[in-house]
Amino acid sequence: MSTATLDKPGSGSQQDASPYITVVFRIRRFNPEVSDEATWQDFQVEIDPKERVLDGLHKIKWDLDGSLTFRRSCAHGICGSDAMRINGKNRLACKTLIKDINPHKPITVEPIKGLTVLKDLVVDMDPFFQAYRDVMPFLITKGNEPTRERLQSAEDRERFDDTTKCILCAACTSSCPVFWNDGQYFGPAAIVNAHRFIFDSRDEAGEQRLEILNDKDGVWRCRTTFNCTDACPRGIEVTKAIQEVKRALITRRF
Ligand code: SF4
Ligand code: FES
Repeated sequence: MSTATLDKPGSGSQQDASPYITVVFRIRRFNPEVSDEATWQDFQVEIDPKERVLDGLHKIKWDLDGSLTFRRSCAHGICGSDAMRINGKNRLACKTLIKDINPHKPITVEPIKGLTVLKDLVVDMDPFFQAYRDVMPFLITKGNEPTRERLQSAEDRERFDDTTKCILCAACTSSCPVFWNDGQYFGPAAIVNAHRFIFDSRDEAGEQRLEILNDKDGVWRCRTTFNCTDACPRGIEVTKAIQEVKRALITRRF
C-alpha cells in the first residue's frame, strides 16, 4: 500500500479558523495494464469535512494522482454515475458528506460489487443496462394514437410514483447477494423500472413485462434481504416494489 499527501489550503493566522482536517482516503486501485491484482492506496487530503467524498476524489485526481479513475457527471445526485462502496456501503460519492462517515478513520472507497471492474472505481455497466433494456422501460400502447392526452387520475399516478425516482445508479443491484452470486439475475433496478410501467394505467404491456420477470432469472430470485432498499440513494422502497411485482404475477391484477 502506498501513500500520497495533499497540503492544507491557506496559511498563517487564517489556519486557526480553518475548517480543514486531514482525511485519509483508502482507495481500491486496479489497472489491468499494470497488474491482475487490485491493491489499496492511501491518500492524505486536507479537506473541509462538510465537503463530499466526490470532492475528496477530485482533489486526489487533480492534485495528487491524475490516473485515479472514477465516473461522475452531475455531482448533484441526479445522473447516478458515481455509485461506489464507501466504508463498505453503496452510496453516491456526490451525496456523501465526509463529516457523516467518520473522517477520523481512513475512508475506504471501492467499486460497486458484482460487475467487472475495468479500472479503479469504474465497473462494466453493460450487464446492468442490458437487464434494464430487457424489461422494456418505455410506455407501450396499442391501437390508434389518441386525439387528446392519455388522462390518468391522481390515485393511478400515485401507484408508481416511487419507482419513477430511479436514477439507474446500480447501488441496489450491486448490493444484492443474489446478483453477486449469479450475474444472470435481472436485479432490483430492472424490476423497479418494470414496476414503473407495469403499474402505469396508460401502459398496455404489463403482461409482457410480467412474463419477462417470471423467468428463472426474474423476480422469484429475490430473497427479500432489503439490501437494495437500504442502498438506494433516492429512498425508493425497492423491496416493496419487487414484492408488488411478485403479487401481480400471482394475481394477474395490476
Ligand atoms: S432503485 Fe435506487 S439504488 Fe436502484 S438503480 Fe434506482 S436509484 Fe439506484
Ligand atoms: S455525479 Fe451524478 S449522481 Fe453523483
